[in-house]
Amino acid sequence: MDVESVASEITKVLVTEEQIKSRVSEMAKQIDSHYTGKDLLLVGVLKGAVMFMADISRALESRVQMDWMAVSSYGHGTQSSGVVRILKDLDADILGRHVLIVEDIIDSGLTLSWLVANLKARGAASVEIVSLLRKPDAAKVVVDVTWVGFEIPNEFVVGYGLDFAENYRTLPGVAVLDPKTYN
Ligand code: PRP
Repeated sequence: MDVESVASEITKVLVTEEQIKSRVSEMAKQIDSHYTGKDLLLVGVLKGAVMFMADISRALESRVQMDWMAVSSYGHGTQSSGVVRILKDLDADILGRHVLIVEDIIDSGLTLSWLVANLKARGAASVEIVSLLRKPDAAKVVVDVTWVGFEIPNEFVVGYGLDFAENYRTLPGVAVLDPKTYN
């Protein structure tokens, strides 16, 4: 799927495929040096983080393992309570392990703030976050994120894993959805 094919449904491309590639490789180098000599488990948050996980994991030189969680926030997008339900839990036992959560976007921060607390409570040796995108103006809670790819304005974005009604996840870059598309 290319951006031209959805040109009438978006207002602009915020982050191009090339910008993502270059930032992913920069962050991968930092992650490699941060975890030198340590055993690392990447935890991807389904479904939005699939593309980012696929790219950043392969950009790492470190030997890593990969696991996945699926979570759902009650009332997400309207009045999120910050209560999160686990739809799919980790397969791995993370007791004593270094965990890096791989996320596509931090919006209100409620999902990640809950997830970090949940994983720490399981006895992980460390829990850090790498997120491709963050919307500083949408934050409701402060989340300590070690690596952020791009800070973006508080607009509805799709592509590179992010969806609207399950569409647009396969766009190669990140684009702002035209409000007329969802109104
Ligand atoms: C998105 C995103 C984060 C969460 C961020 O997931 O992938 O997990 O919302 O929002 P927050 O910071 O306000 O908590 P979504 O619930 O849309 O599911 P998806 O990844 O399956 O698209």
